[in-house]
Order: sequence, then C-alpha cells, then structure tokens
Amino acid sequence: MKFDDHRIKEMTVNMLDSKKYRHAGLNPATVEDLIKQQAPLHASEKALLKAVRRKLHNIVAPYLGEPDYAALTEELQHIQVDALTAEPLQAFCLKVLSAHASTAERIPLMPTFYARLFAETGRPTVILDLACGSHPLAFPWMGLPPETQYHAYDILQPRVDFINQFFEKLGLAPLAENRDILVNPPTQTADLALFFKEAHRFEKRQPGCNRAFWASLNAAKLAVSLPSHDLAGTHSLLEGHRKLIHANLPVRRKVSELAFENEVVFLIEKNGES
Ligand SMILES: C[S@@+](CC[C@H](N)C(=O)[O-])C[C@H]1O[C@@H](n2cnc3c(N)ncnc32)[C@H](O)[C@@H]1O
Repeated sequence: MKFDDHRIKEMTVNMLDSKKYRHAGLNPATVEDLIKQQAPLHASEKALLKAVRRKLHNIVAPYLGEPDYAALTEELQHIQVDALTAEPLQAFCLKVLSAHASTAERIPLMPTFYARLFAETGRPTVILDLACGSHPLAFPWMGLPPETQYHAYDILQPRVDFINQFFEKLGLAPLAENRDILVNPPTQTADLALFFKEAHRFEKRQPGCNRAFWASLNAAKLAVSLPSHDLAGTHSLLEGHRKLIHANLPVRRKVSELAFENEVVFLIEKNGES
C-alpha cells in the first residue's frame, strides 16, 4: 500500500503512544522506518501495522522489562569512584551488565576480552559502540583512560540518559546518543567501531542492510561480534555467521577472527577500503 508522509507520521505517533511503547522512550525514526519499509508489502493498513508491531517486538522486546534506570541513576550517585577497579563501582556495573543476555554472557570473558581485542586493533582513542545496549558499563574492564571518546548509540532514551550519567561519573564525556544507526548511521570518525551481537538482528530487520551500513562508517577498524552458539549452548552458529559477515563485504576484504568461548569477533579493516 502507498501512504502519504502525513499518514506515516500519524501511524508513527500512534505506535509510539501505544500501551507497550508509551514509556519506552523509543526513537521515532525506528518506527517510521519500519512503516516505510513494510508499507509496500501489505494490502491493508491493519496488516501493515501488525507486521510493524512484530518487527518492533523483535528489535526491542528482548530488552523490555528494562532496569529501573531512575533507581540505578540514584544508586550511581552514591558510589565512590576512586579508580575504575574499585569494588563498589565494578559490582554496580556487573549488576547492570548481568540484566541483559548479551552483556551477561560476556561477563566471564571480560578479564581478557578487551586486552585481546585491543592487542589486534590497537588501543583506540575514539570508539563507536553501535547498538550498545548496556555494553558501555564494561568500560572499567577495557583498560582505557577517561579521555577516551566513547560514542555509544542506542534507540531507547532512558538507557542513553543513564549511560551518559555513568560516563560523567567516570569522568568521560557524555557521548551516548539516541540514534537509530541503521536509519541515520553515525558520521563520527573513529579508530574502532564495535558492533556487538546485533548484525544478525539487522539482517532480520532488513535483509542485506549490513553492507551499506558497514561501508558508511567512518572508522578505521570495525569489530563485529556474533554469538558462536545458540542461547541453549547446543548449536554452533559460527558457519552461518561467517557467511553473514562475508556476504556483507567486498569479495577480497580481509577479515580476521578472534574466538571467545561463546562469542566470535570478526575484525574488519576499513582503511583504504574499496
Ligand atoms: C542485543 S543488544 C546488544 C548489546 C551490545 N551491543 C552488546 O553486545 O553487549 C541490542 C541493543 O541494540 C539496540 N538497537 C537495536 N537496533 C538499533 C538501531 N537500529 N540503532 C541503535 N540501537 C539499536 C537495542 O535497543 C539494544 O539495546
């Protein structure tokens, strides 16, 4: 079906005001984009809205049942941050990281994860954390100084606000942003872009979209991670995910792999790409 811009805006506003998303602080660009992408595929407005709701659920729902960010922000204010290794700070971070599957699974890896990653990429001074979730809370394990420019992107405003409070507490610039990185890819230049555990969901949202997205990034290096097993830990996902990576890159692009117990990081050189 074809809809004019006015009707698309109306549907976006209604969706954002629905019971499920009213308090989520969801980025309107995400909803509007889904409506535009899905509209030609459906014969009625009812079918279109149903399809958009399903897509939106896949993008956001695993992360609803969100932490109480107001309570966490309050708790954060009372934490003494003498050093990034301080126990109360790290205990707070671990609590937040363990609330989401993607970051919880990485907790056992964290003591070596960043040392191994940065040994390959070099120590970044400007980072993009794309579709960040709670991952910026792992900053104390990264071994990076507070001068690091850490640009974090997510589509939920309460999460972005909380991450900025966290950055300020640590003495970092508050560079978290509410931005749908698929609709509006960041133009910020960086040494390293992290795109962790989201590329397979991007393919579900819009098949093949990773190619143009990755090509658009102004980062010297791109680290795309994907889970190496399903959530139950029974099936290897590695071969399928390798295919996803190479299908979204020019034919001869060099990719190296950094394997962890349950996550694999594909390291992609972007400097001088063709
Ligand atoms: C699976 S979590 C990944 C978390 C993190 N990257 C990690 O591995 O620790 C996905 C996160 O990406 C966010 N997200 C999904 N689509 C996005 C988009 N188009 N732009 C920005 N953020 C997005 C979701 O809100 C969620 O917080």
